[in-house]
Amino acid sequence: MTDYVLDQHERPMKDLRISVIDKCNFRCTYCMPAEIFGDDYKFLPKDELLSFDEIIRLVQIFSKFGVEKIRLTGGEPLMRKDLHELVARLHEIDGIKDIAVTTNAVFLVKQAKKLKEAGLNRVNVSLDAIEDEVFQQTNGRGIKTSPVLKGIEAARDAGLEIKINMVVKKGMNESQILPMARYFKETGDTLRFIEFMDVGNHNGWNMGSVISKKEIIEEINQELPLVPLDANYFGEVASRYRYEGSEAEIGVISSVTDAFCSSCTRVRLSADGKLFTCLFASEGHDIRELLRGGEPDEAIISNLIKIWTRRDDQYSIDRANGKPTKKKIEMSYIGG
Ligand code: GTP
Ligand code: 5AD
Ligand code: SF4
Ligand code: SF4
Repeated sequence: MTDYVLDQHERPMKDLRISVIDKCNFRCTYCMPAEIFGDDYKFLPKDELLSFDEIIRLVQIFSKFGVEKIRLTGGEPLMRKDLHELVARLHEIDGIKDIAVTTNAVFLVKQAKKLKEAGLNRVNVSLDAIEDEVFQQTNGRGIKTSPVLKGIEAARDAGLEIKINMVVKKGMNESQILPMARYFKETGDTLRFIEFMDVGNHNGWNMGSVISKKEIIEEINQELPLVPLDANYFGEVASRYRYEGSEAEIGVISSVTDAFCSSCTRVRLSADGKLFTCLFASEGHDIRELLRGGEPDEAIISNLIKIWTRRDDQYSIDRANGKPTKKKIEMSYIGG
């Protein structure tokens, strides 16, 4: 029997996004700009990361509150050693119905099969351009699209469900909206366009660099007419559309121009065990301290109840209403 806990806006806790590592092999300009995340950047040392045992203990507790969906993020989650072993243990937990990762796909060539066999259901692959010249700029490491496309192929061969995430930023990759739409209409993979968000403190965000959901839809619709679809489930972040005369879908994630906080059921755990009730939070709640301090499950449970029942975050709505922004955590630290 599940005991749902509701926050200040009556939102239950449903999805847990777990960052398993803060490192990444890419340096996307809007997430981990190379000037900031250089050779001397201090990533978390290994002993500060939650161990698999610690993650499993927490997920067992979260599952009692109605958390059914687990997403593993990073940085780049496939850089965490033996990730498939974590997936296999998550898969064993009663109540966990969906396990997914958000990845840049490069390591899927080696890992897709193992991950699928361990119980992974889905991968969301970040790819911001289909043309090499543009992609090499956006990923900040000069990596061409072919390692990512090979990773997507490996995921397909392994039988994983696939979605593609494209962050759209003015001056960076708007030229790729239609080429990406055409390419993934053919492959049949759902492509989601993401409005550039003001996460973290280093990506130089301003409203002028956002290309809105409306602009994206209008551009695609002119060449490839779209039909709106209903959400797959309560709280889905993307608005869905289908191409006329085709089964292929796109989505648009419009956190900036059309906030979806009212149905936000997501809770986030950083790689060093801090719990965040919003992607744009300034501070997390230190759960690792409780785990390593030898606290019993009951103490952790009462803490979680306290944190969630007090939660009143709705950052994207507040931003739209012009509320000033505070210092925010980095995207690569909390995994999006
Ligand atoms: P699905 O379960 O496949 O729908 O995944 P998802 O879209 O929830 O997760 P994914 O990691 O693929 O995230 C896609 C984009 O949505 C990223 O840019 C995330 O930062 C953004 N996103 C996900 N959840 C939230 C949220 O709660 N708030 C905001 N503002 N953005 C979010
Ligand atoms: N705005 C929107 N999406 C972002 N992501 C990373 N940084 C941003 C940003 N500033 C996306 C990544 C990945 C997901 C976890 O979040 O491209 O697909
Ligand atoms: Fe790495 Fe994803 Fe951030 Fe790009 S967006 S730097 S792939 S974590
Ligand atoms: Fe949830 Fe915060 Fe995103 Fe709103 S801005 S949808 S409250 S994570």
